Amino acid sequence: MRWLPAAAMLSTLLIAAAPAQASEPLREHAADRGKFIGAALATSPLANETAYRNIAASEFNQVTAENAMKWDATEPSDGQYNFGGADQIVAFATQNNQQVHGHTLVWHSQTPNWVQGLSAANMRTAMQDHIATVVGRYASNATVVSWDVVNEVFNEDGTFRQSFWYNTLGQSFIADAFRYARAADPNARLCINDYNVEGVNAKSTAMYNLVSSLRQQGVPVDCVGFQGHLATQYGFPSSLQQNMERFAALGVQVRVTELDVRVQMPRDANDDATQATYYRNVINACNAVQACAGVTIWGFTDKYSWVPDTFPSEGAALIYDANYATKPSYTAVHDALAGPPTGDDTTPPTAPGNLTASGTTSTSTNLSWSASTDNVGVTGYEILRGGTQVGTSTTTSFTASGLSPSTAYQFQVRARDAAGNRSTSSAAVSVTTQPGTGGSCTATAVTQTQWSTGYVIQPVTVTGSGLNGWTVTFTLPAGHAITGSWNATLTVSGQTVTAKNMPYNAGSGATFGFQASRPAGNTALPTGFTCS
Ligand code: XIL
Repeated sequence: MRWLPAAAMLSTLLIAAAPAQASEPLREHAADRGKFIGAALATSPLANETAYRNIAASEFNQVTAENAMKWDATEPSDGQYNFGGADQIVAFATQNNQQVHGHTLVWHSQTPNWVQGLSAANMRTAMQDHIATVVGRYASNATVVSWDVVNEVFNEDGTFRQSFWYNTLGQSFIADAFRYARAADPNARLCINDYNVEGVNAKSTAMYNLVSSLRQQGVPVDCVGFQGHLATQYGFPSSLQQNMERFAALGVQVRVTELDVRVQMPRDANDDATQATYYRNVINACNAVQACAGVTIWGFTDKYSWVPDTFPSEGAALIYDANYATKPSYTAVHDALAGPPTGDDTTPPTAPGNLTASGTTSTSTNLSWSASTDNVGVTGYEILRGGTQVGTSTTTSFTASGLSPSTAYQFQVRARDAAGNRSTSSAAVSVTTQPGTGGSCTATAVTQTQWSTGYVIQPVTVTGSGLNGWTVTFTLPAGHAITGSWNATLTVSGQTVTAKNMPYNAGSGATFGFQASRPAGNTALPTGFTCS
């Protein structure tokens, strides 16, 4: 460093350490937090549109190639590599002091047919060659710092996707892909990436278990990517921060890799406002979790977005409109990045007020309350029944379902903020559900077998929505007697039989059966199966 008078040096340091000003680009605020804010870039507008290039360069400090690094782009036929688009993205990022996340090495989609038809041995070799060549190309390039090694390996229920990779190689392709990537670039951060894993759910739990077990086996998984393709019609995944925290506890970095928030078209001011809330919530969650490296938006202008091509009647998912004007979601991202650091924040939101229940049926009730306030921002509410959390909501209402008829319940609500603080619980509201109406479920009886002096009715199938206990009644013809039953408790009063669920089959789809005797020659069967 060149010599400076002490005072000059001090002011230099002060300037360097000063926080970004409110009006500065997203990347300045993100950098102040040690995070990235990124965008997926498409090669054609990057080559052809100045407005696109200018925003891409000035607002983001991280870049992902939307398509240019996928297998169909980089190795369209066996051993024939094409890095035109990939190099274009990397050169742009280098020029603008941005980091590049490589997307993606092993995926079931956008992978040429020649790969899909290979034998197991040849497919493994092709995968190894592809990873070695693509990752190897940028291994000593300081701009390319991380890779999505495998993408979308899970089904929604947490089982493995039956992709050609899985069907040909079994789940071992995942560990192998990570090992090949590590060998190709020992310094790159290696990620597993998927969609619908933002909240705590079956799919993200499968991902969690896989990452945990791979790491225990020494497989080099460094990072978990939550794609974040959100839609206002499906609600915000309010356990995002909690989910990030559990992955962080495994020792991996987390990141949101493909954020967009689509709305029903045509968009209106309401859609814009809701969308802005979603964007803010994602940034706040990442701000609050040390292990969250940053957030990549899947594009930035509605002019170029995969959404309208993929989700009919939805669109406008990004933070700039099709004319490169900022939307409320841009401001939300900006302000969340610029706002006070949330990591050390310990101020909880105020407790929700005015909790009321309305529209109570035999199985559900509608709760609503007034909003909490918070110094950082309320991200959602947790709903408690009898003191146990039974659901979450990002709005100030919630429908509690799965209740039993004629039963008293107590509900409370508490708020969570972006830093993970919880409010105290609201005052409780007491609700007694309506008596069963008989309309909320149906019972269908099948006669399995009958003979002159008796019969077996099996199964009686009970179906209904939100069922949590059921009572089936039916009429036994004169002279008939129940001689045995299973999977329900039967009581007989005159000709009326009442069957109640066992503790283990209270829900929809339950079946039970019974056997009865009847006078010889009587061909009647029970009638009037009614469920409540
Ligand atoms: C999408 C691109 O945005 C489209 O241009 C392309 O036609 C299909 O792929 N999950 C991913 C991304 O991991 O690679 C996908 O990108 C969106 C879903």
